[in-house]
Amino acid sequence: MVKPSAPDSKSNPVPAGHASLLLDWYDQARRVLPWRALPHEQADPYRVWLSEVMLQQTTVQAVKPYFETFLRLFPTVESLATAPTEQVMSAWAGLGYYSRARNLHACAKQVCTLYQGQFPRDYNSLKALPGIGDYTASAIMAIAFDQRAVVVDGNVERVIARLFRIEEPLPLSKPTIKQYADRLTPHTRSGDYAQAMMDLGATLCTPRSPSCFLCPVRTHCAGHKAGDEATFPRKMPKKSRQTRYGAAFLCQRSDGAILLRTRPDKGLLGGMSEIPTTEWHADATDPTQDLLQAPLALAWKQVVPPVQHVFTHFPLVLRVYIAVAPPDTKAPDGMRFTPRHALSSEALPNVMVKAIALGLDQL
Ligand code: ADE
Repeated sequence: MVKPSAPDSKSNPVPAGHASLLLDWYDQARRVLPWRALPHEQADPYRVWLSEVMLQQTTVQAVKPYFETFLRLFPTVESLATAPTEQVMSAWAGLGYYSRARNLHACAKQVCTLYQGQFPRDYNSLKALPGIGDYTASAIMAIAFDQRAVVVDGNVERVIARLFRIEEPLPLSKPTIKQYADRLTPHTRSGDYAQAMMDLGATLCTPRSPSCFLCPVRTHCAGHKAGDEATFPRKMPKKSRQTRYGAAFLCQRSDGAILLRTRPDKGLLGGMSEIPTTEWHADATDPTQDLLQAPLALAWKQVVPPVQHVFTHFPLVLRVYIAVAPPDTKAPDGMRFTPRHALSSEALPNVMVKAIALGLDQL
């Protein structure tokens, strides 16, 4: 059992000058990001909220084009609130974690109905909105409203685990890290400080080979002093995540239309579009049974290799079958034929984009 390293101001004091060293560094090294206000600008709460929701579990590089598309399609919280759900889901497709897109839409609606389109300026009201948890409420308070808030994302966890050589593994150490973060957080320049910690983690205090020689707070860093900074944060041994298997059916009608359906609202990829698939099971289902579940009786041909996709909780191996249907074929109940040119406006998750691309390639 690893002993929790509770922040104790005597044995583990907060280094004097931490915030000012970090802020001086941020003033010359800050990243220019599409949602980030420039030094002389006022932050826009809509942009801050949108970016923070998108950045949950997704990298800055992956988010940039989605953020720009969203701002073009939905320049204000009102325009997002009144947009059709399918348009929001389709603009989100590819970012993953689709419940976030549904919460995003619900949140925009509530901000409009409860707060006349103005994000509330207090933590508790923000946290009561759909899809806004402790992290996002704190980030909005700090970055949009410049109010003191303790903002800890994955990058910040790593920085703090190294600064204080926290032996307790993540995720058990989250409360300890939060307490250290609280003690480090200054009372001024809250938004800049929060983003400085994030930028430090993203650009210098990186997971594998941190660039300590450039770090503004290296002289305060217990990990750096001990020379083992890269071994933090400690992690729990990984649970093995069992691979699941299934089959998917790409049916192209001779006019080029593709057979699709919508997944149930709840659960993995809820509300997204897909080509019909079997259920996905951890026991490698017998491939000879796949065609019993095909959506139409056609001359199905298996394409190789299968699609491999890694979801957060499990890897998936999807066997893909293709067939061409005659021009008068009707879609079975609950399914639809979507013209090829309309595929790009369907909310297709990455795994389905891969399966369709593979199938079309071999049709
Ligand atoms: N990751 C999450 N929020 C961020 C922000 N505001 N700036 C940079 N990286 C982030």
